[in-house]
Amino acid sequence: MSESPLQDQLTGHEYDGIREYDNPIPGWWSWLFIATCVFAVLYYMAYQLGTAGTRVAQAYDNAVTANLILQFEEIGTLTPDEPTILKYMNDDKWLLVGEKVFAGGCVSCHAKEGEGLVGPNMTDDHYKNVKRLGDIAVVIQNGAANGAMPAWKHRLHPNEVVMVSAYVANLRGQNKDGRAPEGVAIPPWPEAPPPDAQVE
Ligand code: HEC
Repeated sequence: MSESPLQDQLTGHEYDGIREYDNPIPGWWSWLFIATCVFAVLYYMAYQLGTAGTRVAQAYDNAVTANLILQFEEIGTLTPDEPTILKYMNDDKWLLVGEKVFAGGCVSCHAKEGEGLVGPNMTDDHYKNVKRLGDIAVVIQNGAANGAMPAWKHRLHPNEVVMVSAYVANLRGQNKDGRAPEGVAIPPWPEAPPPDAQVE
């Protein structure tokens, strides 16, 4: 066997007379590959699983909500009364704003799905301060139980009050496991009026 530099580079694998060079990929390439794998894991954790601040899905929702709030002009300033709440209970676009207000200001006491924590469960038919649909907005604006339920009228736009009221009203009937029913069972919400009879 002659000592040629070529000899060193052969692996010794041979098949049908074809011999294999030992040509490993360069170290820098392997490290680059490992670095991209590490980056992918970190990226996935930050943008897909991460906290509210970094998650792409969250950022998208926030952007949509921020944009919707800019569109308040389109609907003017609403009065948080029963017919208005009823109308927005069936409006998926604006309910998103209600959901965001709830997630931002209410989950700390009423829990993520409204099942109750410090404040009552919103998913059953029992209420302490609500007898009719419109009372939801009254409680949200003025608070209840000497501030145990804070007043929101100076912190929320009237349209946000309507939308979070509609969102809360829609939680009813989902009967999530949480705080036991409190107060009294009240009659169902009124039926939504036909679209042409709805208030503007
Ligand atoms: C600091 C805790 C706290 C926060 C924050 C809070 N609530 Fe409450 N909420 C309460 C408590 C406590 C009650 C029950 C008051 C009572 O005992 O009469 C209540 C009652 C209510 C009721 C009436 C329920 C009933 O059975 O009569 C509604 C509606 C309501 N909250 C909506 C909201 C909304 C919407 C938000 C967010 C904008 C919110 N709350 C934020 C503590 C809170």
